[in-house]
Amino acid sequence: MKIKKQGDNAASAPQRANLVIIGTSGHAKVVYETFVLALAKKYKLAGLITSDRISSFLDMPVLGSEKDAEKIFKKYKITHAFVAIGAGFSRERLSIELLAKNRIRAVNIIHPGAIIARNIKMGAGNFIGPGAIINPYASIGDHCLINSGAIVEHDCVIDDFATLSPGVILGGKSVIGKRSFIGLGANIIHKIRIGEDAVIGASAVVVSDIQARSVAAGCPAKVFKKRKIDEVYL
Ligand SMILES: CC(C)(COP(=O)(O)OP(=O)(O)OC[C@H]1O[C@@H](n2cnc3c(N)ncnc32)[C@H](O)[C@@H]1OP(=O)(O)O)[C@@H](O)C(=O)NCCC(=O)NCCS
Repeated sequence: MKIKKQGDNAASAPQRANLVIIGTSGHAKVVYETFVLALAKKYKLAGLITSDRISSFLDMPVLGSEKDAEKIFKKYKITHAFVAIGAGFSRERLSIELLAKNRIRAVNIIHPGAIIARNIKMGAGNFIGPGAIINPYASIGDHCLINSGAIVEHDCVIDDFATLSPGVILGGKSVIGKRSFIGLGANIIHKIRIGEDAVIGASAVVVSDIQARSVAAGCPAKVFKKRKIDEVYL
């Protein structure tokens, strides 16, 4: 009797779509690790795109820089991508200039160690890190970064390109505006609204609404300046 080896049925194995990761920062390391754990069976990672002058990143090839993205997508028959950039402004720019323009689909990369309730809404291009908890009726937009151990309580709304650093806690029904950045371990109590492009400092305790483009820190958090557009806080 001929014993079938694994792989004999290659013709019937589902074809994996080709994907690239954009970015080679520390965040991209976490994204890559999570991709391998969560999505490697579904997508074939062709390599990375970065404007850093390097030929490889971890054990993956760098295919070229952002300015050559269109050519790279064609050459490697890329259909899907993930923007692994920590800064929300840059995530937004690259998702428009590289993905939307070239009709490349963004995937969600969710660590198998994250706990995600059944009744949530989630767009595309989001990263959910190890140990993160998303509770029922939360709504997450596109290209959000919900980092390791962050807790998003019931009915929270997180708008596009927002970032929750590791260990952030959002109380129920709180709202995080577009591109806003919440620092390490900050607590946002229930029903609080953080406006667009706001920055909340590490370990802050936010007990009242924060207006758009405000930078706030402390316990209780106080606004101490306005954020400039494109100013990166990481
Ligand atoms: C709040 C924050 C955004 C302010 O950054 P900044 O605008 O560059 O401000 P500065 O560092 O100039 O600090 C301004 C003042 O705020 C204080 N401050 C800074 N961060 C603070 C914080 N998290 N909590 C309380 N006070 C803080 C500083 O001590 C300084 O006080 P002083 O004027 O009395 O000397 C930043 O310190 C922060 O907390 N970033 C979050 C970092 C993070 O979580 N990264 C995640 C990596 S995964």
